[in-house]
Amino acid sequence: MARHDLTLELDSQAYKSNPFPTYARMHAESPVCRMKVPLVGRAWIVSPYDDVVALLKDSERFVQEPQNVGRRRRAGVGWWAPRLLRILTENMLGRDAPAHRRLRGLVEQAFSRRHVMGMRPRIEAIADELLDKMAASQDVDLMRDYARPLPLAVITELLGLPEEDRPKFTRWVRSMMRTPLVLRLLLSVPVMWQISRYLRGQFELCRESPREGLISGLVEAEEAGSHLSEDELLSMVFLLLLAGHETTVHLIGGGTFTLLRHPTELAKLKSDWSLVGSTVEELLRYCTPVEFSSIKYATEPMTIRGKEIARGDYVLAALAAANCDPARFENPERLDIERTPNPHVAFGSGVHFCLGLQLARLEAQIALERLFKRFPELELAVPAENVKWLPALGLRGLDALPVNLRKT
Ligand code: HEM
Repeated sequence: MARHDLTLELDSQAYKSNPFPTYARMHAESPVCRMKVPLVGRAWIVSPYDDVVALLKDSERFVQEPQNVGRRRRAGVGWWAPRLLRILTENMLGRDAPAHRRLRGLVEQAFSRRHVMGMRPRIEAIADELLDKMAASQDVDLMRDYARPLPLAVITELLGLPEEDRPKFTRWVRSMMRTPLVLRLLLSVPVMWQISRYLRGQFELCRESPREGLISGLVEAEEAGSHLSEDELLSMVFLLLLAGHETTVHLIGGGTFTLLRHPTELAKLKSDWSLVGSTVEELLRYCTPVEFSSIKYATEPMTIRGKEIARGDYVLAALAAANCDPARFENPERLDIERTPNPHVAFGSGVHFCLGLQLARLEAQIALERLFKRFPELELAVPAENVKWLPALGLRGLDALPVNLRKT
């Protein structure tokens, strides 16, 4: 192991349940360190806030396509990887300009602030429907009954996928997320294959009879021939489905858990719902669901904080650690729902900044407000230490969240 390597167990329960000591260590001891990332290899992890922002904004020196630094294959997608895995990674997040601009441009309007704000009544109705169902019991798993189904319903409706197929996605995604890392790739491939077979079937149905939703629009673009190939279409929908679902699930789930553990902040919110916007921003900072950026490739040799990075090296921005950088955020380990300004990087930055951030924010705001207004006495049903986190690398989220609704 090189001298500057740092050993961090980034998928352990100990880290997931309290990541702050790890962030503090990263900032104090190894602001830029080289780590062995399972399935990927050695990568540079950059955690100071200013360096993270600089690297995310610098799409000249840090790129998404391995070919642009003379590498033949994407990190973690070796010669042995099935063709499907390669296709699924060729989405907008995996591409540089001009392909990135072309792909993002095709769907940007559907995620614009104006369009997303128009979805408010429907998202509220979905949240209320789920809460009505939950109200039949006293003890519920908030992940299973609320945090998971809400974003899934929203993104499948936006894409135009049938409601009756939602349980399949829940099964597919959960089976990938709950698998320990070493088995993940092995077990993920059959699931990815099932998802892609299902999606190709849906594209066919949309070709035969166009329907409401983004997929039909994209199928038209694909048929027009000049904008999108069939593989790109598959990769795009796969990305939107996964990115638009799993991340928001953990903002709602982790956010609820965090508020329950900070009763003073929760009481403040309950007495003034105009704070819900800044609360969601603080939750994004404090329990950042996407802990690292995608892998970027350095296009030239460079030195960051004394560490020499070579052309072609893998570089990751540690978003969650950057959001707790004491050089940028005062008392980073304190949850402060009125924190202003709050320039967190939970949605990334630069040209690949999150396409769905307006949607994610709105969903989380609605989810929290509807939940705590309906069940103001809601409390954890188990000690906080017993709540189980997913063993997922790079995604911080709860497996289950047992709560008591304490209906009066
Ligand atoms: C709390 C929820 C979410 C979080 C924390 C989150 C986080 C992120 C981050 C950090 C990136 C940048 C990755 C990088 O630079 O390597 C990103 C990109 C992206 N996100 Fe999100 N996301 C969330 C919700 C969503 C939703 C609801 C969608 C909707 C479909 C979405 C779609 C995307 C897409 C398509 C990209 C790639 C953009 C590009 O390459 O230009 N995300 N997200």
